[in-house]
Amino acid sequence: MFSDRQLPHARYELLIENKRTGLNYNRAIKAGGIIAAVVIITCLTAYISWKSLKSFHDREFVKKLWELNLNNSDSVEWLKQRAELYGLAVKQYLDSNQSHTFTAVPPVITNKSPSSNIKAKTFRLVCYYSLPNSGIGGDLMPEEINPSLCTHINIAFAQITNGSLQPVNSTILGLYNRVVALKSGNPSLKVLLSIAGNSEPGSFSTLTATHANRKQFIKDVLAVLVQCKLDGLDFDWEFPAWQSDKKERVHFTQLLMELRDELNRRHSNLLVSVAVASPKPIIDDSYDVPQMVEYVDYVNVMTYDYHFYVWYLPMTGFNAPLYKHSDDIGYFATLNTNWTVSYWESKGMPKEKIVVGLPTYGHSFTLVNDANHGVSAPASGFGLLGSKGFVSYPQTCQFVAAEAATVFDRDSRAPYAYKNTQWISYDDERSLAYKAEYVASGGYGGAMIWALNMDDFKSECSNSGQNWFPLITKVKNVLEDDQL
Ligand SMILES: *[C@@H]1O[C@H](CO)[C@@H](O)[C@H](O)[C@H]1NC(C)=O
Ligand SMILES: *[C@@H]1O[C@H](CO)[C@@H](O)[C@H](O)[C@H]1NC(C)=O
Ligand SMILES: *[C@@H]1O[C@H](CO)[C@@H](O)[C@H](O)[C@H]1NC(C)=O
Ligand SMILES: *[C@@H]1O[C@H](CO)[C@@H](O)[C@H](O)[C@H]1NC(C)=O
Ligand SMILES: *[C@@H]1O[C@H](CO)[C@@H](O)[C@H](O)[C@H]1NC(C)=O
Repeated sequence: MFSDRQLPHARYELLIENKRTGLNYNRAIKAGGIIAAVVIITCLTAYISWKSLKSFHDREFVKKLWELNLNNSDSVEWLKQRAELYGLAVKQYLDSNQSHTFTAVPPVITNKSPSSNIKAKTFRLVCYYSLPNSGIGGDLMPEEINPSLCTHINIAFAQITNGSLQPVNSTILGLYNRVVALKSGNPSLKVLLSIAGNSEPGSFSTLTATHANRKQFIKDVLAVLVQCKLDGLDFDWEFPAWQSDKKERVHFTQLLMELRDELNRRHSNLLVSVAVASPKPIIDDSYDVPQMVEYVDYVNVMTYDYHFYVWYLPMTGFNAPLYKHSDDIGYFATLNTNWTVSYWESKGMPKEKIVVGLPTYGHSFTLVNDANHGVSAPASGFGLLGSKGFVSYPQTCQFVAAEAATVFDRDSRAPYAYKNTQWISYDDERSLAYKAEYVASGGYGGAMIWALNMDDFKSECSNSGQNWFPLITKVKNVLEDDQL
């Protein structure tokens, strides 16, 4: 049929050609969709008839995958929405008529002394923790977290809906208190509350729209922080002024400014961070970087979800490539951690305020044709494993243990695994060691992990022995030793 390499090239060329000739992208995507649908249906039909002849063993394998799945819940929908917004950024770029070149980021002039002069190494290891029953990863109880593993724990998430921060009932407050109690095992641990929302009415958009609303919101949030003895807050607005009211960008900056004023006056010990986007179109629309720098302690850059199954980009790819793949050209060459981090620097975010996002989860895909299992291979949907394409590390390592093939991609410094039609991009100790080394040797402000719950915290992976949280532990060790 088609080889591993032909299709992605053809596809990239099609996309680039569209830009050059000013062809209507929507028309091209429709035509592409029809062709893709025909190809997919043909392949699926052939595949299904062939598959039905295959042994019972395969069906058992698929059943095992289902059993491995944790019970889904709507919180995963939140993660999926972000991944889809990142995908939409690709589409927005292709729809626009700007003629940017993406591969070059302006050089950043630093007046840093050579690294040999740096004394004691300090770094942040910011770990997101999703509360039990959120449906994100495994249910991890606060007491199961080693208090010395991370320097910061972000409790995910306090949601804003209907114009207020919620839910803050006694059950939720009890959980916050149990996370804060970890500080007795590590007095320097910081526990922050991460507040998630979007641009819908009743969410961040409403809460930041007027000075009065912002004032009330800041008052409400600070009351929770003080009551729970939290160390700060993390904003996760996905995403201000992107595909929504352009004024949100200014309003968000005003919120940060007014919050900083208030903290300077009365709570100077509290930290403020923002979880920020990776795709260039979103960064450009959402953040006034030079202003943000003044008001935030650091940003957590969500350098993951670069490739995720969406119908208009139905192909495999790395969740979090450190560097570009040799096949990546044009916009696709920007879909990696190194490009995003350099771009944030070029916009004026100082290195020490850049905390680089590292995933402990992966993304699963279902291949159209199990003989075509490389990078950028045609995919027909999420994989069977995981929830909406999100797979935890224990799920992946059990997949790998069930005789899946694995490939470590040298360009991207990331592995993928496949078996039959199932394909997973993930991070392991090796890929995370590369990323942590990138953070340490690059002089960045630290590493952020999404999420504690997606690591192997129950020691389910055969190679982790008694080592709970093997992935995050690896990151910590590399950051502390600054070596692989
Ligand atoms: C998953 O959900 C089903 C039905 O909702 C329930 O029977 C089962 O016990 C749940 N499994 C786990 C591991 O919670
Ligand atoms: C790009 O689009 C804008 C309107 O969206 C238009 O004013 C401008 O002329 C276009 N530029 C080119 C080079 O087509
Ligand atoms: C990382 O990004 C910088 C800035 O864009 C670029 O100069 C460098 O070549 C990139 N490194 C790799 C290995 O791609
Ligand atoms: C939203 O808030 C208003 C007033 O604060 C309240 O009357 C209404 O019931 C709330 N709606 C929902 C769905 O919670
Ligand atoms: C608190 O809120 C959570 C999430 O909405 C809910 O599951 C729980 O039942 C509530 N607890 C109480 C005591 O209201």
